[in-house]
Amino acid sequence: MALRTLATRKTLGALSTFPQQLRGLQTFTLPDLAYDYGALEPAISGDIMQLHHQKHHQTYITNYNKALEQLDDAIAKGDASTVVKLQSAIKFNGGGHVNHSIFWKNLAPTKEGGGETPHASLGWAIDQSYGSVEKLIAKMNAEGAAVQGSGWVWLAVDKELKRLVVETTANQDPLVTKGPSLVPLIGIDVWEHAYYLQYKNVRPDYLKNIWKVINWKYASEIYEKECP
Ligand SMILES: [Fe+2]
Repeated sequence: MALRTLATRKTLGALSTFPQQLRGLQTFTLPDLAYDYGALEPAISGDIMQLHHQKHHQTYITNYNKALEQLDDAIAKGDASTVVKLQSAIKFNGGGHVNHSIFWKNLAPTKEGGGETPHASLGWAIDQSYGSVEKLIAKMNAEGAAVQGSGWVWLAVDKELKRLVVETTANQDPLVTKGPSLVPLIGIDVWEHAYYLQYKNVRPDYLKNIWKVINWKYASEIYEKECP
């Protein structure tokens, strides 16, 4: 018998355990943040961080695990129709988990370097490709604001072509759906749930302010790994 544990944020002390026979199926748990919910204020309020992490991200994980369990059962039964039917739930909820796991790492409190623009090789590559970091931010803000409905705006590196790319994805589509060689450096969530409480649904204001807590150091580390 396998045990599955779905953990909520440790600091709040809530831990739920659901013993279940899963034939060894690997399921997913909510990752802890590297900072407190209020540590990104005033750019992002503690309330919205807590809601976004504990409610929204957890819901994607719960539904992803549920869909994977159903997929496991359907495969075991040879139920091809159900296997196909589950693909959209897996893409949506699995994408939500993948994207949010990146998003939390893309943010850092200002006292820990959040908002400090990149130097070294990523800073140079941005200058070469977009003119300056400020011009890149303006481009990403414009493209993020223009996403119809919900989605994401990304700064990525194409690891085969060794060049920077700005992309958007709809809903919870992960960046890999736009190209298998794209590696995300920065992903910004432009779903209403990321900003409606604090920015009263004004997405451009949220986009303008989030750069104050963007973790460029993390983006630089990934860039240097992909483009040594
Ligand atoms: Fe989100």
